[in-house]
Amino acid sequence: MNKQAEPFLTDLIENERERAAFRQVHVSRPHESAHLHVSGRATYTDDIPVVEGTLHAALGMSPKAHAKIVSMNFDAVRATPGVVAVFTADDIPGVNECGPIIHDDPILAEGIVQYVGQPMFIVVATSHDTARLAARRAQIEFEELPAVLTAQAARAANQSVLPPMKLARGEPAAKIARAPHRDGGEMLLGGQEQFYLEGQISYAVPKDDDGMHIWCSTQHPSEMQHLVAHALGVHSHNVLIECRRMGGGFGGKESQSGLFACCAAIAAWKLLCPIKLRPDRDDDMMITGKRHDFHFKYDVGYSDDGIIDGVAVDMTSRCGFSADLSGPVMTRAVCHFDNAYWLPNIDIAGFCGKTNTQSNTAFRGFGGPQGAFAIEYIMDNVARSLKLDPLEVRRRNFYGKTERNVTPYGQTVEDNVIHELVEELVRTSDYHRRREAARAFNATSPILKKGIAITPVKFGIAFNVAHFNQAGSLVHIYTDGSVLVNHGGTEMGQGLNTKVAQVVAHELGISFGRVRVTATDTSKVANTSATAASTGSDLNGKAAQDAARQLRERLSKFAADTFGEGKVQPSEVMFESDTIYVGERALTFEEVIAKAYVARVQLWSDGFYATPKIYWDQSKLQGRPFYYYSYGAAVSEVVIDSLTGEMRVVRADALHDVGDSLNPALDVGQVEGGFIQGMGWLTTEELWWNAGGKLMTHAPSTYKIPTVNDCPPDLQVRLFKNRNAEDSIHRSKAVGEPPLLLPFSVFFAIRDAVAAVGDYEVNPPLNAPATAEEILKAVSAVRAARAGVQQTAGVEAIAEAAK
Ligand code: MTE
Ligand code: MOS
Repeated sequence: MNKQAEPFLTDLIENERERAAFRQVHVSRPHESAHLHVSGRATYTDDIPVVEGTLHAALGMSPKAHAKIVSMNFDAVRATPGVVAVFTADDIPGVNECGPIIHDDPILAEGIVQYVGQPMFIVVATSHDTARLAARRAQIEFEELPAVLTAQAARAANQSVLPPMKLARGEPAAKIARAPHRDGGEMLLGGQEQFYLEGQISYAVPKDDDGMHIWCSTQHPSEMQHLVAHALGVHSHNVLIECRRMGGGFGGKESQSGLFACCAAIAAWKLLCPIKLRPDRDDDMMITGKRHDFHFKYDVGYSDDGIIDGVAVDMTSRCGFSADLSGPVMTRAVCHFDNAYWLPNIDIAGFCGKTNTQSNTAFRGFGGPQGAFAIEYIMDNVARSLKLDPLEVRRRNFYGKTERNVTPYGQTVEDNVIHELVEELVRTSDYHRRREAARAFNATSPILKKGIAITPVKFGIAFNVAHFNQAGSLVHIYTDGSVLVNHGGTEMGQGLNTKVAQVVAHELGISFGRVRVTATDTSKVANTSATAASTGSDLNGKAAQDAARQLRERLSKFAADTFGEGKVQPSEVMFESDTIYVGERALTFEEVIAKAYVARVQLWSDGFYATPKIYWDQSKLQGRPFYYYSYGAAVSEVVIDSLTGEMRVVRADALHDVGDSLNPALDVGQVEGGFIQGMGWLTTEELWWNAGGKLMTHAPSTYKIPTVNDCPPDLQVRLFKNRNAEDSIHRSKAVGEPPLLLPFSVFFAIRDAVAAVGDYEVNPPLNAPATAEEILKAVSAVRAARAGVQQTAGVEAIAEAAK
């Protein structure tokens, strides 16, 4: 158990000493599969024993960013020993399409290729290596077309995958023009590879009567079911998708697992034999989309106190060749530009640039981090220009509690705790003293420079599309008193199954060990939503609670009738400590279950949940898209070497709001993981395409995710005490994505350190990721600008003296 989570548990026991011993929710407990994860016995898709006759597939990928396919010759591929078949778009029995929303995403390229890495054909062989090697022997003739690679180039060419978005209120232009101070500029924010430890994989096994069973590492089994059904030209009920767990998804397996599920299914359908498709890591990175990188242009007007009078931001994202989830990602970016700030006069534009690169997709935060990053950059500039502590500027612009609390998209912020949360963090992190200390250090340190920053987070919880906010579950009680739960959510390491089992154990008053959660399976709970937008436990926890409650009610009535001697109402029956209390009598859970079965009481139930209160008008970008908000803040301290650009985070403190946590240990784990992942995005993880549009950072040798050595030696994560104001599952809050925004503090601490090189006179032109190279560039730019300022000052002084 994480030691940070202990105080929480202690408090709880103090509050409810006698009941806490048997408490199932609001307690830390290990991940339901922890013992399997650490002993190598957790079954991932590639570990499932294969069926006799299984063949392996690999994908033939485009070497061109944009070209017409003139001809394809597979003679050499087919001649390779071990190769069984080659399939192209022409072999797809149904539709050649795997786009989740808009149908612009072919499974296999047809007539044209649109990025380097785009799958063009499937090779099936007796081993994966054979299939992969043989795929390279295809002889394909192309006629090259001009390629557009970056967001800015797409913008210049007015090339987009979706219509532009616009959200405005107040009079931004007039307010900016009239403000005492004005600042404007541009900035780049890089993308990010999901880098799930378990790569994409699908294992398709044909079944009786046009059935297809696919084990797929996916966050969205129902979507896989639809895509495969369309690709095969069969109904949804012919296709069964199963996923026990993923070794990470991070958004990369929400829509993009579809391509692999479809290719495995197509080959299995054509050959009537089981097909496994597990791309090599390099192929996975070349084929799949990533977090969208953004280009921002901004214009801001502000007062002497640093209050934002008006702001305009123009965001362009690199979407890649197809829409995928780029629309919802941009919507979330637009709806998170405000972050924790009241911005009455605002103009937000979003342009989804179409480029000849991988089709970018979901990644933890789903555009939210990109949008919020832009306003934090602006706040940082405003503060430095006014020579104010950025914390002060941020605070002055925070949403109010009862006024100044309506977002640009029309939702009232009713649960704002950012003021007290930041207050608490400032105190516990000793921010003010450490800021002074860093400045004192810098005054005497010419090469090493320290920086410190605090940044807030406000993150909206729910899918921006109202109808996705629903979930179902099944709870079975077997006659021996053991319980099996199934729900529509998927387990990717985040602990969803643990939380759902806790909810069910709590509802039935039984110990955690009695409850087992099974693989997500489209034949059990139908029409599920992706496990995404951090809503997994909110939705599936409530759905499982609903099922368990129905069972408890049924059992209460049975127990009152059977054991109550006419003196006990069903509502008075108590379920606690594996015991059912009926008036004076205490019966074991098993005993009641066994008797209920004999009395023909239904011992299983379904459950359903639909999030209340939310609505959204996408055409106007107005409504209440979020059920509630999660809050957080972090303070990071860094040191940079101004000669080499090297950087280290020396300490980070995070305080994060997860409501009344269902499981503090898991939640602290999510905050720590989110922090480090976000830190990687903003510091070392750099995606780089060459001039021909080939992604050159397609393996861990060149794409640098944080290692243990990059983690702050002092990382203090604490959970903010807060009950969800809304009736969420046990008043907890979602935790999956919001912590990814906490390490904004790392980036702005770096910027603070770079600013020290120029005596805090210049706003460093630092782009993200702040790699060593980027830091060095910013240091040089600050030095040059500072020298310029001093020179001008010198010239002015001479001119002044000459008067
Ligand atoms: N944590 C782990 N260990 N692995 C993951 O893949 N994905 C993140 C987050 N935390 C992820 C994770 C993302 S992108 C989301 S949306 C949420 O978990 C999804 O799960 P939840 O809704 O159950 O929190
Ligand atoms: Mo998370 S990006 O919503 O899968």
